[in-house]
Amino acid sequence: MTAFRRKIVAGNWKMNLDRPKAVELAASVVARAAEAGTTELVLCPPAVYVEAVGSAVAKSVVALGGQNMHDKASGAFTGEIAPAMLVDLGCRYVILGHSERRTLFGETDAFVNAKTKAALAAGLVPIVCVGETLEEREAGRTGEVVAGQVRGSLAGMPAGDLAKVVIAYEPVWAIGTGKVATPQQAQEVHALIRTLLGELASPAVAAGIRIQYGGSVKPDNAADLAVQPDIDGALVGGASLKADDFLGIARAFGQPATVT
Ligand code: PGA
Repeated sequence: MTAFRRKIVAGNWKMNLDRPKAVELAASVVARAAEAGTTELVLCPPAVYVEAVGSAVAKSVVALGGQNMHDKASGAFTGEIAPAMLVDLGCRYVILGHSERRTLFGETDAFVNAKTKAALAAGLVPIVCVGETLEEREAGRTGEVVAGQVRGSLAGMPAGDLAKVVIAYEPVWAIGTGKVATPQQAQEVHALIRTLLGELASPAVAAGIRIQYGGSVKPDNAADLAVQPDIDGALVGGASLKADDFLGIARAFGQPATVT
């Protein structure tokens, strides 16, 4: 079976930048977007700057995403953001279940699952994050932990919905640490995730689902990750705050991928 998966590189700006810097970075990514070749580009600014960045990327090929959202449509959820609010500001994507949300803010697979369904219902493409801690990896539990997160975060979803999701495999020990997973370590987990998606949906659907790698991706390690058959892009934190680095990573993924 052969599937084309357009590579996708998303910048997770986390809680960084101020309004002028956010707009400037977005404008420079827009101006240089052609450097990314065939790679799809997504910018995920802090929520309060989504609208300003949305104006900067409007009518360009650069897509806009949120870093988080609530699963409910409205109500007494102080400080939260509804899916339709992100849509309202022009978002096409939303990052869900990032390890910082899971570990620092107590998000469970069940909550991520509810958000994933709500995102799709609102017309957003969820980027669902999974990944093991160093302790779990060293205990030989990577496969079990990641599979549990994938099953839990995508529970009860029909194949047609699973087909629309992007997965980000981000080993927690590689996030913001400068310790990137080796391309082989990453590929091994990506292949495992794809096999599992095949069981949850069908092998044909799984072959079309994009799985990003995240965790200390930089321009100088992106090319080795990009050649792995099941790595379909990157979710980039630190390096996404510099247009040069972000576009350098996107360029490394900028070849059309046909996998068998
Ligand atoms: P990093 O972050 O690239 O700074 O390691 C990745 C992420 O958390 O998405």
